[in-house]
Amino acid sequence: MPENKTFYITTPIYYPSDKLHIGNSYTTVAADALARFKRLTGHEVWFLTGTDEHGQKIQRSAEAAGKVPQPFVDEIVAWIRELWSVLDISYDDFIRTSEKRHRETVQQMFSKLYEQGDIYRGRYEGWYCTPCEAFWTARQVDDGNCPDCGRPVEMVAEEGYFFRMSKYADRLLEHIEANPNFIQPASRKNEMVNNFLRPGLEDLCVSRTTFNWGIPVPFDRGHVIYVWLDALSNYITALGYLRDETLFNKFWPADVHLVGKDIVRFHTIYWPIFLMALGLPLPKQIFGHGWLIMKEGKMSKSRGNVIDPMVLVERYGSDSVRYFLLREIPFGADGVFSNEAMLQRFNTDLANDLGNLLSRTVTMLERYFDGIIPPSGPEAHPSDRELRELALETPGQMAELMDKLQINGALEALWVLVKRSNKYIDENTPWSLAKEEGKRERLGTVLYNLCESLRFISVLLFPFMPRTPRRIWSQLGIMEMPQLQSWQSLQDWGLIHSGLQARRTEDLFPRLNIEAELSSLLGEAANTNNKDLPQDQAPPPQQQKDAATTKAKDEETQKGVVSINDFARMDIRVGEIIAAEAVPDADKLLKMVISLGTEQRQVVAGLAKHYTPEQLPGKKVLFLANLKPAKLRGHLSEGMILAATDESGKVVLTTVEGDPGAGSPVS
Ligand code: ME8
Repeated sequence: MPENKTFYITTPIYYPSDKLHIGNSYTTVAADALARFKRLTGHEVWFLTGTDEHGQKIQRSAEAAGKVPQPFVDEIVAWIRELWSVLDISYDDFIRTSEKRHRETVQQMFSKLYEQGDIYRGRYEGWYCTPCEAFWTARQVDDGNCPDCGRPVEMVAEEGYFFRMSKYADRLLEHIEANPNFIQPASRKNEMVNNFLRPGLEDLCVSRTTFNWGIPVPFDRGHVIYVWLDALSNYITALGYLRDETLFNKFWPADVHLVGKDIVRFHTIYWPIFLMALGLPLPKQIFGHGWLIMKEGKMSKSRGNVIDPMVLVERYGSDSVRYFLLREIPFGADGVFSNEAMLQRFNTDLANDLGNLLSRTVTMLERYFDGIIPPSGPEAHPSDRELRELALETPGQMAELMDKLQINGALEALWVLVKRSNKYIDENTPWSLAKEEGKRERLGTVLYNLCESLRFISVLLFPFMPRTPRRIWSQLGIMEMPQLQSWQSLQDWGLIHSGLQARRTEDLFPRLNIEAELSSLLGEAANTNNKDLPQDQAPPPQQQKDAATTKAKDEETQKGVVSINDFARMDIRVGEIIAAEAVPDADKLLKMVISLGTEQRQVVAGLAKHYTPEQLPGKKVLFLANLKPAKLRGHLSEGMILAATDESGKVVLTTVEGDPGAGSPVS
C-alpha cells in the first residue's frame, strides 16, 4: 500500500438526546477499525466523530428533562465521550456543533450562500418529522406518518429561508452516475436516484423560527439554521474550513462518510448539493450501513429493548464487544443482535479458536523448550508451506476487503489463518514428536511456525481488537519489539527470533457459561432501562429493579405473551428415560431416571394412569432441566417431562423425531 497517503473518515455526529445504544456504537466501532487499519498500512488518517446538538428534537428532550439545552447536552456528551473511551475509539477530533468554531463557520457559510443567491427568503408550509428533523411533502407523507421512522409528522407554517436544491439536481445525478462508488452499497444508490432525485427535488427550507435552540441566521436573528445544514457542515468545519485551512487542504474531500441507512438521503442529496454551491469537491464515498435489530424488531428506548454498550464492555471487555459487532454482521446489511449469538461467538471464535491457539502454543513451548522459542529447521511437511503461504497472503486479502468496507469479510479471512494454525497443530501432533527420538528439530520447527503465525495474527488483529495483540506479544516475548509488530513485518515469514522467552500467563478469553451469562444479562437489562430516568425521579436501585420487573411482568401476563428472553431462560433438552417405577401409596405418580447425556436426573410425574413403568425406558422426551427442584410425596423431582393432554384428558409424552443425543438443547 502506498505510503504518505491521507485517509479522512467520519461517523455521523450523534444526537445527544439520550444515551447511545449498541446500534449507534456500531458505526463508530466500524469507523475505528477502518481508521486503525489505514494507519497500520501507512496512511495518514484523520478520524472525526462528534455530536449534533441543536434542533427541535434536542430542545424538546431537554424540556422534557426539565433542563436548559446546553447543560442537558453537556451531560450526555460527557457520557458519549466516556463510551468512546471504553470502546477504544481512536478519533482524532470530536466536534460538538455547539462549539464556537463550528457555529461561526456555519454562519459564514450561510451568509455566503445567501449572498450568492442560493438561499432566498420565503414561507414554508408543510410537514415536519421532529425525531428525524426532516421536512416532507404531502406526497411523501404516509397516512400522517413519517415515511422514514413511521412516527406522526406535524404541520408547520413559518417564515423561512430556502435553498435552491433544484438548481444542482442534474449535476448531482450526473456525478452519481459517473462515480459508482459515490454511494455504497449500490442498492442505496438506486433508492436515492429512483425515489428522490428522478422525481425532482423541491427547494429545501433551511431555517426555523418556532424554537430557538440552534445557530442563529447571522443577518436575521429570529431564525435558526436548519439542523441538517448545521450538522452536515461539521465534516468541514472540524477541518478548519474558512478558518485555518491546513487540515482542510490536507484531508478534504473525505474518503468515506460512514452513515446508517436512515440518513443516507441527507448525505447523498443535501450534503453534496451544499458542497457544490460552496464550490467544494464532493466526498469520495458515502457508505450506508445496515442496522442492528433485535429478534423482535427495531431497537428503541420506547420498546425497552436497547442494549447498553457500557454494560457489555464492563462484563466482556471492549475487544470482545468490538469483535462481535464487526464479525457478526456483513457491513451494509441489517443484522440481528442477540446476547446468545454474542456469547456463542465469544466461546467459539475467541475462546476456542484464538485463545486456544495461543495457550496450546505457549504451553508446549514451556513444556518442551522451557519457553525459549526454538530455531526453525527446514520445511519438511506440506503443512509448513501452506501455513507460511496463507500467512503471507492474508494481509493483502484483508487490505482489499477493508478497502471495500467488507469488515466482517476481513475478519473472516483472518480467522481462516487462526483455524489453519490450529489445524497445523493437529496435523503435526507436537506431543508425539516430543516422544520420538531424533524429532527435536522438527518439534522446534512446528512450534516456531506457530509463534510466527501468531505474530501475523496479532498484528492483523490490532485494528479490530486493539487490546488483544499486546496480550499475545507479552506471552510470545515480543512486547518491546515494534519491528515485529508492523505492517511491513508481515512481508516476511520467519522474523521472530529464536531464543526469545515466551511465558504463559493468562487465558486470553476464558470460556463463558452461556446460560449463567444470559440470565445475569437479563437482570442488568432491567437495571439499565431505569438508569435513563433523571436522577431525582429514579427510585432506589432495588426498588427500581422490582418495579421494572413487576411492571413488565404485569403487562406481559396481561397480554399472555412471553419475550424471547423469557423463553431463553428455559433450559429445555432432550432427555432419555432410562428407568421408571411406581411410587408406593401414590397411584398417579411414577418415579423415573432421565439421562441428559452428561448427567442423570430423578423426576416424579403424574403419568401412572397413562403409562406403565415398562413402557417408558428408552423413550426420548422433551425435558425442562432448570425447573426448581421439588419434593413430591417425599421424592425429589429435578425437572419436568413435557407432555400433551388430549381432549379426553389422556396424557401423551412429547417425543422427538430422529435420534438427537440425550442432553441435546431444544429451542
Ligand atoms: O441521525 N443500528 O443522529 P442519531 C445501527 N444527528 N445504527 C443505528 C441504529 C441501529 N440500531 N440506530 C441508530 C443522526 N443508528 C444525526 C446525524 S450526521 C451529520 C447527523 C445510527 O443519533 C443511525 O443510522 O439519530 C445514524 O447513522 C447514527 O446511529 C446516528 O443517529
